[in-house]
Amino acid sequence: MASEPLLRLEGVGKKFGLLTVLNEVSFSVQPGEIVGLVGPNGSGKTTTINVISGVHQADSGQILFEGQPVQRLPIFKLARLGINRSFQVPKTFHELTVRENIEVAAAIGRARGADPAAILAEIGLAEQAGTLAGSLTVNQQKMLDLGRALATGPKLLLVDEIGAGLNPAELGGIAQLLTGLAARGIALIVVEHLLDFLGKITERVIVLGAGKMLFEGSLQNASRDPDVVAAFIGG
Ligand SMILES: Nc1ncnc2c1ncn2[C@@H]1O[C@H](COP(=O)(O)OP(=O)(O)O)[C@@H](O)[C@H]1O
Ligand SMILES: [Mg+2]
Repeated sequence: MASEPLLRLEGVGKKFGLLTVLNEVSFSVQPGEIVGLVGPNGSGKTTTINVISGVHQADSGQILFEGQPVQRLPIFKLARLGINRSFQVPKTFHELTVRENIEVAAAIGRARGADPAAILAEIGLAEQAGTLAGSLTVNQQKMLDLGRALATGPKLLLVDEIGAGLNPAELGGIAQLLTGLAARGIALIVVEHLLDFLGKITERVIVLGAGKMLFEGSLQNASRDPDVVAAFIGG
């Protein structure tokens, strides 16, 4: 692909104390592309999302968004530029209603005129608009957390293990939702353990093992790669 990538990581490193959690991580994401990010527990998937979305700062390397370095920017500025994420453990405002959660997010994002009703319909929570977020089920909280990110009008949406604990019908619905977002031009990095699910939404995966990139390519080839196999058996 010749066009300028939407996102580029160049040699990104992150340590927590003495522990190297990300080591020379480099990859690119094109607009509207879905990239799967997989790896054993503790391999650095969430940390990768955290450094891209500004929750943590990378210690080394560069993160370029639309060609500009963004690794020092705070979360709200990144959201305004078009980077947002959902959380492995959903972070919604429990004491606000579902609709208010979406409205608050829309107010900080770049999506002037984001339509809360459309987002609520898209995430399947239209009927719960007036419900307090704290009384939703965990799965509904995950959808609201995704909706909160969507309400900021992302160009790049980072999705952290949204599939865990969902039944096949719910997973099918999310696969459809995510591919629909990509079709609208939103790029997605999707962290997921459920490889069948991932296979429904993308061909392209990046595999992390102990903070290093072990593999980049098709999901099919990943499962045949000796480093990938060793990391999963070892992990
Ligand atoms: N805030 C933190 N402080 C210290 N260590 C952390 C922190 N966040 C993550 N880690 C460590 O970094 C490693 C990678 O974690 P994480 O990115 O959450 O992995 P994954 O999402 O792939 O399971 C783990 O060893 C984890 O314990
Ligand atoms: Mg994680």
